[in-house]
Amino acid sequence: MNHLLKLSDLSKDELLAILETGHDLKKKLKAGEETPYLKGKTLGMIFQKASTRTRVSFEVGMSQLGGKPLYLSAQDLQMGRGESIEDTAKVLSRYLDAIMIRTYDQSDVEALAEHGSIPIINGLTDLYHPCQILADLMTIQEFKGQLEGLKFAFVGDGNNMANSLIVGALLAGASVSVASPQGYQPDQHILDAYKDHPGFLLTENPYEAVKNADVVFTDVWASMGDEEEAEQRKQIFQDLYQLNSDLLSVAKSDVMVQHCLPAHKEEEITTEVFNEHAAEIFEEAENRLHVQKAVLLHLMGVASYVS
Ligand code: CP
Ligand code: NVA
Repeated sequence: MNHLLKLSDLSKDELLAILETGHDLKKKLKAGEETPYLKGKTLGMIFQKASTRTRVSFEVGMSQLGGKPLYLSAQDLQMGRGESIEDTAKVLSRYLDAIMIRTYDQSDVEALAEHGSIPIINGLTDLYHPCQILADLMTIQEFKGQLEGLKFAFVGDGNNMANSLIVGALLAGASVSVASPQGYQPDQHILDAYKDHPGFLLTENPYEAVKNADVVFTDVWASMGDEEEAEQRKQIFQDLYQLNSDLLSVAKSDVMVQHCLPAHKEEEITTEVFNEHAAEIFEEAENRLHVQKAVLLHLMGVASYVS
């Protein structure tokens, strides 16, 4: 493993190993055990979009591992004034030990990896959100004790979360059904890659997707970058694509809900459903911390954690 650019870069064994390390680091943290495996290492964190969880969990995680996190707002870097990704990657590779980047274009993350010489982590692009799905899978293991054979359903915009969920779920041996309106379906490359997979279903009918699901996911109707379309999207999504108690009633009786947050309550999820499943949703947020520390250890070659 050199980078975490997207989940399809991982083998199933690598995915499961990261999750196992995440559980181990969580246990160690709760037991008050110190884990200074990255002493002397520096993680650069480039943000071109807003963030609460990703920024704070990477920053705190790197500190807990004995390393130093460096917050870099893209607007304050010369990148924001047009310096190329190629030159930025070459320069930052000489100072830093790894980079986490949150940006718009997946191609910028790929270019950073191509031209730099240090591990690159995708902290969210328009196309993917791999760190979030790793945290979700870790949370599902905690609540359900397994991933293999479970049915996942995603309701809403076929965005970065939906794209990464399809890849992550199928890699982990779960099935995944996605319900999105026409024009808002997951990325065409993903649909092409998985359309014949027996575990994958794409539908416009949320009730079909959620039927008998073990875990139901949703996310905002308008992602970062879609703000100008927010009102138009609301009109398209509001009648059918809200996670409410009626829709959830067709899932399994012990259904679990995941939302990456931030949530727009009474839009993609009702306050009632959110509150009923708040324990699962906030554990999911916490697990960003643990699983990203695992990613850092696997990418930065900490021997005892790398298989
Ligand atoms: N879920 C998530 O990535 O949250 P932030 O946008 O706050 O980082
Ligand atoms: N789909 C959302 C996820 C935020 C964590 C967005 O890209 O804004």
